Amino acid sequence: MSSNVLIQAKSLCKTYELGPVTVPALSGVSLDVCQGDFLTIVGPSGSGKTTFLNLVGVLDTPTSGGLIVFGEDTATLSRKQRADLRLRTLGFVFQAYNLVPVLTARENVEFVLELQGLGHERRRRAEEVLGQLGLEDLGDRRPNELSGGQQQRVAVARAVASRPRLVLADEPTANLDGENAELLIDMMQRLNREENITFVFSTHDPRVVRHAKRVVTLVDGQVSNDEIRNV
Ligand SMILES: Nc1ncnc2c1ncn2[C@@H]1O[C@H](COP(=O)(O)OP(=O)(O)OP(=O)(O)O)[C@@H](O)[C@H]1O
Ligand SMILES: [Mg+2]
Repeated sequence: MSSNVLIQAKSLCKTYELGPVTVPALSGVSLDVCQGDFLTIVGPSGSGKTTFLNLVGVLDTPTSGGLIVFGEDTATLSRKQRADLRLRTLGFVFQAYNLVPVLTARENVEFVLELQGLGHERRRRAEEVLGQLGLEDLGDRRPNELSGGQQQRVAVARAVASRPRLVLADEPTANLDGENAELLIDMMQRLNREENITFVFSTHDPRVVRHAKRVVTLVDGQVSNDEIRNV
């Protein structure tokens, strides 16, 4: 495997069992994600975007097919090894932010660093990354004292604070207005360029798709188009 391939998905399939009904969510997705990609996954509702991100994020397991994440064959990993792999290499941004309500913005960021075993350096790192995202004055606020756009920037700060090589984001701009969506994507692009963090994110928003270097379209759980663009 070439060292700049971070994710290798091969004929990835996922079905969900809903009582007697089998729902196909992914039906044979083969896709490599490379170091430096700024890749968006688009496609109609129900096409498998979230399912794909959950598999790549080792949050869920495929029904069949192969998935190699940072050189590790995910099929062979124990529960603990999967958690370690996530903690070492991945950052997540969810549509609904998923910030811890009783913690301040800074504590939300520090929390992940604590899980990683970081000691005194935690506070400084949290402040540095909040600053990078234009949140230096808001570190003491709790999520309900922040706007949607600010909360989503805290969620990005939390995802990148541990210096992951890959950030997965499921519709990160879904709850943002146009201006905040652009701001968030600008910041993700800067982290992609300057910190060499690879991004894979799903979206329905054409303003966001515009900024992607690579656009993968899913239809009915399959890749219907994979386009590299000059942006
Ligand atoms: N936990 C689940 N149980 C049963 N079916 C599921 C489950 N999660 C997803 N599905 C089904 O799998 C298919 C793919 O869903 P998925 O959430 O990946 O789509 P999506 O592209 O993210 O859609 P959206 O744009 O609406 O977020 C859909 O048919 C969905 O109904
Ligand atoms: Mg989804």
